[in-house]
Amino acid sequence: MHPKSIELLNKAVADELSAVHQYMYFHFYCDDYGYDLLANLFKKTAIQEMLHIERLAERILFLKGEVEMIASEEVEKIHQVDEMLKKAAKMEEDSATEYNIWANECAANADAISKQLFESLVSEEEVHFDQYDTELDNLKKFGDSYLALQSIERSKGRDTASTAANN
Ligand SMILES: [Fe+2]
Ligand SMILES: [Fe+2]
Repeated sequence: MHPKSIELLNKAVADELSAVHQYMYFHFYCDDYGYDLLANLFKKTAIQEMLHIERLAERILFLKGEVEMIASEEVEKIHQVDEMLKKAAKMEEDSATEYNIWANECAANADAISKQLFESLVSEEEVHFDQYDTELDNLKKFGDSYLALQSIERSKGRDTASTAANN
């Protein structure tokens, strides 16, 4: 049943897996640097991509296909925050472009449900793109002080926690 859709859905699973790996990698480093806002954004987005995999897998199984859990790309070992955001924004842009094309392919093969799934993913990837793009803008506008502020917020949080513990 719908072999082309199964192939496209698995390609999407592969891209989503790469996104989970890449964003968690960025999360680990941002967390280590003390940039909590960005660390949380990468982690939250990775979890959302994992939920995309779940939706794709459910559709593949409904179509009696096999879920191929193979990431499409190796993790890029990027340690610079601006480069992380550029890479993440590009990944979202590419996913949105691909999913638009694949939605049309599913429609052409009379698989309206897979088409709708891809369309719904496009709108979520566009939100992700926008979030990364906004952070990139903030970084350009405020420079290193934007990152410094995130570290200071973490220190303040620790200070408040220790004061509360001493009272
Ligand atoms: Fe996704
Ligand atoms: Fe995404």
